Amino acid sequence: MNTPRKTLVVGNWKMHGSRPANAELLAGLLAARPYTADVAVCVPFVYLSETAATLASSDIRWGSQDVSAHAQGAYTGEVSAGMLAELGCRYAIVGHSERRAYHAESDEIVAAKAQAALAKGVTPVVCVGETLAEREAGQTEAVVKRQLSAVIHTLAHCAAEMVVAYEPVWAIGTGRTASPEQAQSVHAVLRAQLQAATGHGAAMRILYGGSVKPDNAASLFAQPDIDGGLIGGAALKAADFVAICRA
Ligand code: PGA
Repeated sequence: MNTPRKTLVVGNWKMHGSRPANAELLAGLLAARPYTADVAVCVPFVYLSETAATLASSDIRWGSQDVSAHAQGAYTGEVSAGMLAELGCRYAIVGHSERRAYHAESDEIVAAKAQAALAKGVTPVVCVGETLAEREAGQTEAVVKRQLSAVIHTLAHCAAEMVVAYEPVWAIGTGRTASPEQAQSVHAVLRAQLQAATGHGAAMRILYGGSVKPDNAASLFAQPDIDGGLIGGAALKAADFVAICRA
């Protein structure tokens, strides 16, 4: 018997936004309450304070798109989990494929970041996903299991606290979504891995990300092992994001 998992929809703004645009977007999300899903926005670091102030009296949560693996020190340009916790961040995305690709983040670095977040009570949203070449070579399962296993190994008994996001790299920002069946089959693999490692797999949330839009969200979220989404482009328009949160 599965533990019921509440749908979670997380907006990943990436490097988009401006103070006026953010104010308008957040006002749109606030106006559309209540949501039956848990809703969160992961914004650029510089906008966290303002986002926190705007959302403070609501149940919409906020978070960052990255976090340092280090607690403090001479790491110019980095932001620690302690700083995020101070601002009330509920989530920190770690291991997004753009960070893995453009900032050479290894599985081990991603795991260390997830650990640093959890140590300060910030829930890591750990992203895993295969490239098109890996999918075509039949390596999808092996790749996502390797990526997840590094994090599970590092978090040990705390692994059950994370949120996992399956984001096939070939579907991110391309308009090419994984079919609900393709996504579900990977989610089932990840859940089995989480269950075997933590004993709590049935209670853990696994989000799908990659070109989720208002018109495909419902069919993705209806899959038994898809517990919500990590939304990029469609999180920048209040109407689209709200529609996805309601899907
Ligand atoms: P997308 O991005 O929805 O624009 O494909 C998703 C993500 O990268 O998290």
